Amino acid sequence: MYHTSPSLLCADPLRLGETIETLNILGVDWFHIDVMDGSFVPNFAFGADAIRAVCQAAKHPVYAHVMALNPQNHVEAFAQLGCNTFCFHLETTHNPFRLCQQIRAAGMKPAVALNPATGVEALGNLLDYVDAVTLMSVEPGFSGQSFLPFMYDKIASLRRMIGERPVLIEVDGGVDNEIARRCLSCGCDVVVGGYFTLFQKGKSIPACYQSFNEAIKEAAI
Ligand code: DX5
Ligand code: ZN
Repeated sequence: MYHTSPSLLCADPLRLGETIETLNILGVDWFHIDVMDGSFVPNFAFGADAIRAVCQAAKHPVYAHVMALNPQNHVEAFAQLGCNTFCFHLETTHNPFRLCQQIRAAGMKPAVALNPATGVEALGNLLDYVDAVTLMSVEPGFSGQSFLPFMYDKIASLRRMIGERPVLIEVDGGVDNEIARRCLSCGCDVVVGGYFTLFQKGKSIPACYQSFNEAIKEAAI
């Protein structure tokens, strides 16, 4: 039982290797690595060399959350770096079906992220083409923001829309242990472990991980 994908944006950048080692041993569904271009979101994160190093150290899949305009320009490069999933933002492309095909052809799994203002209805038939959907529960760009309360209904609606399809739901941003429990009960599969869960100030990652697992035990999953 994992139900979490640690956000490496929240790791101490001077101890990234150690952090990945710790999480390799504890176990996670996947490593969530945020890529920010300074245009789609007002911040920068993780360039090619850092992503390659993460992929080499990671013993669990690497899920690139690509918050960048023109995602089609980066697909093959991310495959070369060793990413397993390429998650683009629906808001960044007019041709999501072509992009999914391009991602699969490059040997990765396609996933799509939605900003808080984008309704799940916008996904439509794309659910037949992706392996996962990341629902942003904060405006993308920064760690440590407050979880938007309308997300629980959004998760439940998406779960209904997905039906029997093998599509995972990931929720990203502002999730604490209690919110994680509620998200999982609403039908989310994996929450991004960030500032309020796995990387809490003054607590070790194993201690955070243990309290996360305690908190989600009773979720209906
Ligand atoms: C925000 C990023 C998140 C972030 C998680 O744009 O996509 O992955 O690191 O946020 P917190 O730490 O608030 O859960
Ligand atoms: Zn993210």
